[in-house]
Amino acid sequence: MKKYISSPFIALLIGGLSFFACQQPAEKKAPAPTSAMEKSSFGTLPDGRSADLFTLRNAQGMAVKITNYGSTIVSCTAPDRAGKYADMVLGCDSLAGYLRGVPYFGAFIGRYGNRIAKGKFSLDGTIYSLATNNIGNALHGGIKGFDKVLWTAEPMQGDEPALKLTYLSKDGEEGYPGNLKVEVVYTLLKDNSLKLDYTATTDKKTVLNLTNHSYFNLANAGQGDILGHELVLNASTFLPVDSTLIPTGERRPVAGTVFDFTQPTAIGARVNDAKDQQIKFGGGYDHCWVLTDSSKTLKLAATVHEPTTGRVMEVLTTEPAVQFYCGNFLDGTVVGKGGVAYAYRTGLCLETQHYPDSPNHPAFPSTVLAPGTTYRSTTIYRFSVKN
Ligand code: BGC
Repeated sequence: MKKYISSPFIALLIGGLSFFACQQPAEKKAPAPTSAMEKSSFGTLPDGRSADLFTLRNAQGMAVKITNYGSTIVSCTAPDRAGKYADMVLGCDSLAGYLRGVPYFGAFIGRYGNRIAKGKFSLDGTIYSLATNNIGNALHGGIKGFDKVLWTAEPMQGDEPALKLTYLSKDGEEGYPGNLKVEVVYTLLKDNSLKLDYTATTDKKTVLNLTNHSYFNLANAGQGDILGHELVLNASTFLPVDSTLIPTGERRPVAGTVFDFTQPTAIGARVNDAKDQQIKFGGGYDHCWVLTDSSKTLKLAATVHEPTTGRVMEVLTTEPAVQFYCGNFLDGTVVGKGGVAYAYRTGLCLETQHYPDSPNHPAFPSTVLAPGTTYRSTTIYRFSVKN
């Protein structure tokens, strides 16, 4: 296991050693926890390449594990109101679990988060046909999206543990145009925030909508459903979908509907509202909420509070929208960490992004990336407790 210790720690260590060389300490104190990164093996791909697992740890004791297979967040721990740590994301113990097939647990989603209708779009008069993998639509990048490729990982220097992952998606991959260089940096901040900074460039006009697909359960991943989690979404409209979950183009006000999360509301309170056709189409919540603040600055998109543990997660983003999916398709067939079968609605996703199917909706904010410009996007998951 390789360890990377951040530079301020080394400076402190040298300073501390020279101090103690001159003075005898009155009493021995336990060393303060430090931020660090460790690397270990995560498994071998069928083609013989190996995947690694990186553990990012901050001085408070929070730890996040990331593998370069799919640039995937494997685990994420934070304390509850009693100071007890638990893993809050669904995932697998080793690469083998992910290779057996998982519904995007913790994965980096690209090139296009959520669906593109019929896997088709046109750019400057050329029609592109994508790999379709979801009842005739293209979902989350296609058959072999960015969640199923091996990324190049590089620990970064700095006073907070940070991991850079890069991938070159070749022109034509899954039907998308342009050689796309994509990069994400995961940084575990001192204040128990996990920051994701995305950048990408292309050599041909393309479309792009990157996100992360972590399934959170703030009570403890794998133990119970997320229906008691209280959610706030800073969104006054959402995008209704058709029966194949493609946006119709309408932006509907949430006021007076079961999609109104402008005040803290338990996810389970209205998720089974049989009268709402949108709930029927989604099998529950599986929709894109348009953030009221449409600026490209970092703003609070969502807050989740789990009342039994007091854990709180705030989601901040530079993106204009968030796809809230409450694990309606989890059915206990996928077995994850510690042999736990992940049952119906045991995880919730808050996927910060542009709108689904934007390439086919000129009125939606553009997802086109042109050569000579750089795609940039930042999302922060910030963890705390409420007493
Ligand atoms: C989508 C769901 C889909 C899930 C995949 C979500 O982002 O909105 O419809 O089933 O990802 O697991």
